[in-house]
Amino acid sequence: MPATTATAPGKIILFGEHAVVYGQPALAVPVPAVRARAVVSPAPDLPRGEIRITAPAVALENAPWHGLPPDHPLAKAIALTLEAVNATPPPALRLRLSSTIPVAAGLGSGAAVTVALARALSAFLGHPLDNASVNVIAYEVEKIHHGTPSGIDNTVITYAQPVYFVRGQPLRTLTVRRPFTVVIADSGIPAPTAEAVSDVRRAAQAEPERFQALFAAVGRVVEAAYQAITHGTPEALGPLMDENHALLQQMGVSCPTLDRLVATAREAGAEGAKLSGGGRGGNIIALAPANAPEAAQAIARALESAGAARTIIARIG
Ligand code: MEV
Repeated sequence: MPATTATAPGKIILFGEHAVVYGQPALAVPVPAVRARAVVSPAPDLPRGEIRITAPAVALENAPWHGLPPDHPLAKAIALTLEAVNATPPPALRLRLSSTIPVAAGLGSGAAVTVALARALSAFLGHPLDNASVNVIAYEVEKIHHGTPSGIDNTVITYAQPVYFVRGQPLRTLTVRRPFTVVIADSGIPAPTAEAVSDVRRAAQAEPERFQALFAAVGRVVEAAYQAITHGTPEALGPLMDENHALLQQMGVSCPTLDRLVATAREAGAEGAKLSGGGRGGNIIALAPANAPEAAQAIARALESAGAARTIIARIG
């Protein structure tokens, strides 16, 4: 059996994070500039059923998968994939995982590793899983990372296409009529997504009316952004990003560092900016002016000078 490789991209949420957990729509896009990779190869030196994992990002070197706790994301991803393709016990194999997606940066590194793993492992075993099955596995593993995920991260990463996502509804891809450019800047603060999601839940339980109004307002911003993207008027997205950021601040998921980076991006010429993902750390995104391609570089440089750990210039569409 030859080695089998699969990859999956990172992601960013353009609009609608947090409110999406409560049934509002959200827009997300893949970030192919960063990727997770899984390589599965035969291990004729090992007994049947043995899987050895090498994953430098989580300090695993030739580690037996049976030695991992069952709720370890990699152990769960392997178990669900083997079950989906009816391959228990599997032939002996080695699994090597690597990724250029920064960990805990809100770019979907965990979901991308699961998607790459499920694809490579199922293909190696002769039953390549379709996107719908891979997405189910990635959602189950996301629950370990985030408790009550909406499913947007695993969906955009599995399908590797811009999505208009509503929790529990069939996938709708998003047609980008006119491309636009966003600058992604990592605050360098690990994104505590599970904590931010559960804090929003607690706050929403304490003040249901205020939070329902905030979620509904985010939903309106998302609908307006959807119109702008699908009708080819991306310049309308800047003020919508600003509005979405203000709503996220009111939900309590921004922080001084993210607010500072958002302000820096605007001062450097961005047409709008917002935090992206769970907040309290992770990334901001900023919309570069459409008529000045070099502006994205200037915004990225300004964000790095203001302390961003790294920036990515992403062309959407
Ligand atoms: C995290 O990337 C996005 C959140 O909306 C959580 C989720 O949708 O599961 C904060």
